[in-house]
Amino acid sequence: MTSLTLINRATCIFNTLIKLPATKQLVPFFPAYHQHYSVSSKQVSAKMATEKTLPEIFKYVDQNKDSYKQLLKEAVAIPSVSCDVKYRADCIRMVHWMQDKLKEVGATTELRDVGFQTIDGKDVQLPPVLVGVLGNDPKKNTVCIYGHLDVQPALKSDGWETEPFELVERNEKLYGRGSTDDKGPVLGWLHTINAYKGTGAELPVNLKFIFECMEESGSEGLDSLLMDKLKPEGFFDSVDYVCISDNYWLGTTKPCITYGLRGISYYFLEVECAKMDLHSGVYGGTVHEAMSDLIYLMNTLVDKDGKILVTDIYKSVAPLTETETKLYTTIDFDPEAYRKTIGAYKLAHNGVKEQLLMHRWRYPSLSLHGIEGAAFQPGAKTVVPGKVIGKFSVRLVPNQEPEEVEKLVFDYINKKWAERGSPNKMSITAQSGRAWTENPDHPHYQAAARATKLIYQTDPDMSREGGSIPVTITLQEASGKNVLLLPMGAGDDMAHSQNEKINVRNYIEGVS
Ligand code: BES
Ligand code: MN
Ligand code: MN
Repeated sequence: MTSLTLINRATCIFNTLIKLPATKQLVPFFPAYHQHYSVSSKQVSAKMATEKTLPEIFKYVDQNKDSYKQLLKEAVAIPSVSCDVKYRADCIRMVHWMQDKLKEVGATTELRDVGFQTIDGKDVQLPPVLVGVLGNDPKKNTVCIYGHLDVQPALKSDGWETEPFELVERNEKLYGRGSTDDKGPVLGWLHTINAYKGTGAELPVNLKFIFECMEESGSEGLDSLLMDKLKPEGFFDSVDYVCISDNYWLGTTKPCITYGLRGISYYFLEVECAKMDLHSGVYGGTVHEAMSDLIYLMNTLVDKDGKILVTDIYKSVAPLTETETKLYTTIDFDPEAYRKTIGAYKLAHNGVKEQLLMHRWRYPSLSLHGIEGAAFQPGAKTVVPGKVIGKFSVRLVPNQEPEEVEKLVFDYINKKWAERGSPNKMSITAQSGRAWTENPDHPHYQAAARATKLIYQTDPDMSREGGSIPVTITLQEASGKNVLLLPMGAGDDMAHSQNEKINVRNYIEGVS
């Protein structure tokens, strides 16, 4: 890769967000647009990056590739697994590590306490949220960046080829837990600032940062920090745009920009038949087993083709319009490549592209995740579990409200429980976050599309996503500004899975 093609996308995005005098109009800073917009010398100081200095910045990124990889290696080595309290100290260490890095590039930082989380009746300290500010020039736009520093659990024995918390480069790919979700993208922002600084160029925007370490566990404490503290304190008053880099391209070669996410409603369905686990040889045949009840209930939720069986669940789903239908046909998505990446035998909806995309992005789906208390370890354990907790979730879409979906699920489970007629104890709880969509015709999206095109020489697809980032809608509401998802990783990065990776190309070219 030559220095010239090795372009830093966020560098471009920042340059497309330069503020015009008086108005908040964006100035596209690329040659093709430059003749239409002129920027007075008041707006652009001598040191500010122009299209002449951009190549210098890109070259700098290219030259510093190894140090950027090294930094990711350091970050991946901290096992900041948020769902397991065993790693809570590592989560806290991760936030401190990132704070040091932000300070090194000149940001003012603050660690905000978000209190405690209750696990098994015990209060456990939540990792602090890292809040940072870099620059406060009123002549510049301010971009608020969100990212997360926590990761999903990973063990080599899950089937990883190398140690999950050791970043390993193989065939132009960087393997390690968190490489693509979301440590790589978060570090990208840091590298961008580093590159501006390294070349002596002035950042064309002010930056504000919100980095948390609990995203994979529902972002506990974050909503209230944003709405009840940062917002009243005026943190968002100067924010013009919000940008999140925490999703992936649809495929592996074409970039996309994302304007929608599904929400999620996560359920814990508990059945108890006895106060302890029982020997199945001694007690089998004499009790109503909790596991049989739970499997019965869980099996009433979804059919073999993925149709959700919960009564009325599709009722409030936003109707499909003709305009929307058309959007799916032009999107670059190869179902067969997608199938092969995950090693699936056959895709749902007969593998029809438009149907697959719609069922990922705009229809709800219900997944069964697991059963706590079940004898899932290898070996023929002959136990009757006394209590089991089935876990499943519904991905929510516009216009489904979490409260409404929770009620439908509770009512349905209660009805099925009554039909079952079991004497056991059953309870169900839920935690939910709403779906999010944004206006992709906004100048913010146009700026991102121009920046992306400059680097990848192709117009990005405007995409939505099936996954959830709970804080997105909160940031939209707290700031009242346009929120944009700018993916860095590729569609086959396998976030949450074995052998998670980020391509060197995506990490360096997408340095965001
Ligand atoms: N980065 C993902 C969200 C994501 C996944 C966006 C796929 C787009 C496509 C994020 O880290 C994540 O895993 N979110 C969780 C949220 C949940 C724990 C509330 C998810 O979607 O399961
Ligand atoms: Mn993520
Ligand atoms: Mn994730």
